[in-house]
Amino acid sequence: MSRTIEILSDVSAIAQKAAAIYLSAAQQAVREHGVFRVAMAGGSTPKALHAVLTADSFRSQLPWNKMQLFFGDERHVPPDHQDSNYRMVNETFVLKTPIKPEQVFRIKAELQDTEKAALDYEQTLSTQFALKPGELPRFDLMLLGMGNEGHTLSLFPGTTALRDNGRLVVRTWVGKLYTERITCTAPVANNSAAVLFMIAGADKAPALKAVLEGPYEPEQLPSQLIKPSNGKLFFLVDSVAGGMLSKGLAAH
Ligand code: 6PG
Repeated sequence: MSRTIEILSDVSAIAQKAAAIYLSAAQQAVREHGVFRVAMAGGSTPKALHAVLTADSFRSQLPWNKMQLFFGDERHVPPDHQDSNYRMVNETFVLKTPIKPEQVFRIKAELQDTEKAALDYEQTLSTQFALKPGELPRFDLMLLGMGNEGHTLSLFPGTTALRDNGRLVVRTWVGKLYTERITCTAPVANNSAAVLFMIAGADKAPALKAVLEGPYEPEQLPSQLIKPSNGKLFFLVDSVAGGMLSKGLAAH
């Protein structure tokens, strides 16, 4: 695994750098196997990336008709709900591109039974990646964020989702938010060809330092679980989120 940590001035600088990584991953994937399968991230930080990718300079270069969009995790809400990761990606990205609905594979989080939603998405991954039993899907790129307590995807500290038990996708109860989530598990992330964290905001500085420089405590800091076994790992962080990192750890 190659790990690159880069401190950039702000979210738009992160978005520019992330867009370059996204484009090269897309071009490489299409060259190698004719399709670019990417797991989109939830939360708010990815919106800046979506704006850059749908702007002229990148728009003309991306292989839109060869892309398949998946989701790393989802909130337990319908697709038109304001908290929906699918809705965010659809409105800030998909609808601004030539991507067709059949190229987008969302998590059916409107289902009351979240275990059903998790099993359904496992079936979607199994079908789209033509998986044999026990095989993991290999995203060409997985986009991730990190919470100020070190969670990523919907892998929250102390939750059952941290113990994947061979599952690709699980439902998980997140007590601190009093809600359920549906999330890909760490082994799925770690089978990606590239994983790209985009992290911004001063409130994330202590957790980021702990994730990158602290003792290995993934129960406390689930982002530490993300170590691609045969892939690249990128941390693009802004100057305040990266403010506590030891000198020399990151490229500026
Ligand atoms: C989610 C995300 C989650 C997110 C972090 C960071 O569904 O919320 O998957 O893991 O990436 O919470 O979110 P921000 O980018 O909004 O800080």
